[in-house]
Formats: sequence, C-alpha cells, structure tokens
Amino acid sequence: MNALRIHGGRRLTGEWRVHSAKNAVLPIMAASILTGETTRLEGCPELVDVAYMADILRTLGCRIHSGDGALTIDPQGLNRHEMPDALAKKIRSSIFLLGSILARFRKATVTFPGGCEIGLRPIDLHLSGLRQLGVDVREEGGLIRCDGRHMRAGTVHFDYPSVGATENVMMAAVLLRGRTVLSNVAREPEICDLQSLLNAMGARISGAGTHTVTVEGVERLHGVSYQPMPDRIVAGTLLAAAAATGGDVRLTNVPCRDLYAVFTKLREMGCEINEEESAARLRAPQRLTAFQQLQTQPHPGFPTDMQAQMLALAAMAKGTSVVVENVFENRFAHAGDLNRMGANVLVNGRTAVVQGVEALYGAHVTARDLRGGAALVIAGLAARGETLVERAGLIDRGYERLEDMLGALGADIRRESV
Ligand code: UD1
Repeated sequence: MNALRIHGGRRLTGEWRVHSAKNAVLPIMAASILTGETTRLEGCPELVDVAYMADILRTLGCRIHSGDGALTIDPQGLNRHEMPDALAKKIRSSIFLLGSILARFRKATVTFPGGCEIGLRPIDLHLSGLRQLGVDVREEGGLIRCDGRHMRAGTVHFDYPSVGATENVMMAAVLLRGRTVLSNVAREPEICDLQSLLNAMGARISGAGTHTVTVEGVERLHGVSYQPMPDRIVAGTLLAAAAATGGDVRLTNVPCRDLYAVFTKLREMGCEINEEESAARLRAPQRLTAFQQLQTQPHPGFPTDMQAQMLALAAMAKGTSVVVENVFENRFAHAGDLNRMGANVLVNGRTAVVQGVEALYGAHVTARDLRGGAALVIAGLAARGETLVERAGLIDRGYERLEDMLGALGADIRRESV
C-alpha cells in the first residue's frame, strides 16, 4: 500500500505547469470509439483512472499506446459491446462508455459502475437521457442492457444537470440522423472540451457551456490529435496548498476563467491572486481568515471537487467557516481525519462547521477518496510535525504524482510503501 509522508511547515514557492484534466480526458477516451480511426491525446497525464479506462478500452478491442506524454487509441479492432465487470466496478467513468458503445453497436451491456465512495451516485439520469433517445434500457441483476435499435434524434431534458449524463447523451446522439436538443445540461468546462474534441472529429455540436446543447447528427467521425484542457481542480489544489503554507506560487496552464468561484473564496481568506491569460499566481497571508460560507453547486458555482481542500484551509484559518455540500450527499469523510490532526470540524448531514485552530499537528491519516486525500496532504503541509497519508493510491486517480508537484514547490513530501 502506498502512503505519502510529509514534514509540515515548509513554505511553498516557485512555479509548476498544471497537467491536463482527468475529467476531460476520461470522456474524451470514451469518445474515441465513436470513429474507426485513431485518436491521439497530447499531454495525457498518467493517472490511475486513465489507466483503468485504457484497460476497459483494450478489453473492448482497442489498441492503446502511450509514450512521449501522448496516448493513442486505435479502435479498429473494437468488437465488444459488453463492459468488463471487474474494471467497470473500479471506475465510475466506465458509464461514459455507454453512450459511445451504443452509438457504434446500437447495443451495450454494462455493470453498475464504481468510483469514489462519495455518495449514492446513481445513474438514473444517464439512463433517462438514453431512454429519451429511444433506447430500451433493462436493468437485470446488476447488469444494464441497452437496446438501441430504435434510437433516434429528438429532445432530451435532464431533471438535474449531471456532468456524466450530459456527456454520455452527447456521445450517444452524435451519429444519429437529425437534430437532438439537450436541455438543462451541465455547464462544466469539461463539457465544452468534449464538444471541441467531437467537433474536431467532424461532429456538429453547439451550446456546451450553456443550459442547452444542440447536436446535429453526422454520418461519421474521423480520427484526431487533441490536447485536453488543463485540470482546474489540480490547479485549485496546488493553490490551496500554497495558501496553507503562507506560500507564493505561480501556476501555468491554468484555466483562470473556470476557477472564479475558487479564486473568490481564496481571496476571501486573505490570499492575493494575480490572473494572467493562462497562469495564476497566489500569495498567501501569514494566517488565513475564515470564509463565511461555502456552498458547492454545479458549475459555475463552487466545485464539489474543491470542497475538501477548502475544508482543510478552513481548519487552520482564523474564525469560523461553514461548508455546505449540495452536490454529493456523503462527501465529508476527510473531516474525521482532519480532526485527528487537531482540527475542529463538526459535520451534520450536508453541512460542516469549522472552527479554525492556531495549528494542526501531524498524524497518521487515511485517504478515503480522491479529493479528501488531497485535502489531508494540504493539512499535512501546514501541520507541525510529521503526517502519514495512507491509501495514497486514491490520490493518484486524479493527480499525476502529487508529491512531485509539491516537492518541486519546496514541500518535504515523499512516497513510501507501507
Ligand atoms: C463528474 C466528475 C466528478 C465531479 C462531478 C460533479 C468526471 C469523470 N467526474 O462526476 O469529478 O465531482 O462531476 O462536478 O467528470 N446523479 C444522479 N443520477 C445520475 C447521475 C448523477 O442522481 O444518473 C447525482 C450524483 O449522485 C450527484 C450529482 O448528481 O449527487 C452530480 O453528479 P454528476 O454531475 O453526474 O457527476 P459525475 O458525472 O459522476
């Protein structure tokens, strides 16, 4: 088992280039099977979730090659419409393949997907979207069997703007004859990135980033070489780490416009942030000030994927902060570990009340999910003494060697097998 050992108290300074976004890469990998030609992803980060997704695509018959920071997917040999059980359970993004497999085969079978333990995470919105396209969906003993023989373009309305469901239905609709209009869609920037990728492959999609996406069906898509967008959550996490240590850090390859909600909270806490075209510099005060309230929301609201990291900052800030998690119903697992480090966090349902303390203290803690794990690392960087974050493999799902990023900025952090 992997762990990260941190000696706290080092101020982070310097520069780092942010890698491409996991949440852009995964749906793009799913989209690669919409064509028979090769897709090349430039600057693809080495993440555990990317490796899982590559394994699933291999099992479906794709050839995958990685090297020079690029990932190529050749779907010529694609010959299976059934998702491998064991892998699909490990990674929630396997569900994104439903739309693209259906588009290619007009049928698909998947197991209920896995992923981080941060709530129920049902897939009813995905299935409802597909049903609205005329797919016959049957749920039988843990399997979902989809028959897309009668799929047709049309209108799809989502009861809630789910990121994954929006992406899935975009992919399912892209090869259907006629126009499909998706309403109440998610507006996350990664959806814009998927639209750009699909359009670069020959699709005709517009509206990503607004409440309505329109897909004009095309007959076929072609291969492409594409650079996925930078990871706004990795950027936010590194800025939060700088904030925790009174640091001064400049990040490049940062989608500043997609981070306004995060920047606003960090400024509220006393940080100075200078935005450039695609870079951001954060200068932290000696001690952070509590933000009054933070509520997670679908984009452009505050991202749930930054909630844990902000909770860690609130734990060491002067004053009381309130955090409300509106997106996932069970996303405060990190609070208990922060309390082991001397924090004072009280969780009641979807709300956490954080009484900031003067100092956190190093402890043995355990990552329970991807972003919660990153939050414990941030706490460890600021804590007095030594922190060991166990189950660091969960952090590797979304950060390409977090210890290298932080080490380059001056942190004392190393990976160990325990
Ligand atoms: C994506 C991101 C994840 C991020 C989340 C919210 C990827 C690979 N992952 O996940 O990092 O935390 O967006 O920004 O892009 N829901 C349902 N039924 C469904 C689908 C979702 O009830 O069919 C609920 C979920 O349980 C959750 C909420 O809707 O409470 C948001 O989920 P969704 O937007 O779908 O997130 P993901 O696409 O899974």
